[in-house]
Amino acid sequence: MSELMKASYPVEAADYTSAGSASADIKRRLKKLGISGDVLRRVAVASYEVELNLVIHSLGGVLDLSVYPEYVQLVSTDRGPGIPDLSLAMREGWSTANDEARSLGFGAGMGLPNMKRNADGFDIQSTVGVGTTIQMKFNLT
Ligand SMILES: Nc1ncnc2c1ncn2[C@@H]1O[C@H](COP(=O)(O)OP(=O)(O)O)[C@@H](O)[C@H]1O
Ligand SMILES: [Mg+2]
Repeated sequence: MSELMKASYPVEAADYTSAGSASADIKRRLKKLGISGDVLRRVAVASYEVELNLVIHSLGGVLDLSVYPEYVQLVSTDRGPGIPDLSLAMREGWSTANDEARSLGFGAGMGLPNMKRNADGFDIQSTVGVGTTIQMKFNLT
């Protein structure tokens, strides 16, 4: 199926000044395409959480947006420490955020659970010492 729109956002590690700019642009583009309401809200929440995780936890990565007639897809791919225990990472309140991130108000440990809750499809793959890939889908029909 051919996509209606595609965009790719490089996200740098520990760049707290730009943090949130990719997800803000995603929201703006989806609005322009006429996507609104519940789907727009859920994509906005999930894209913000996945972008912030790239900033806080990875060594840098890319957030890819694709919009198809039937769904919105977000794919996050990073280089980084990876996640040793995915079931622990998915738990509400679990966080390894460092002091800098915590001083800025991050580290509540709700990002991954919120992504899973808000997306219609959620898949996470991680290799320790290599990186993490997260794929999310949001149905439009
Ligand atoms: N891209 C990532 N690379 C490495 N670790 C990650 C990544 N995303 C999440 N994690 C791990 O999963 C934990 C939980 O993530 P999350 O639910 O978003 O909470 P928080 O970001 O507040 O720590 C993080 O503290 C971290 O240990
Ligand atoms: Mg997070």
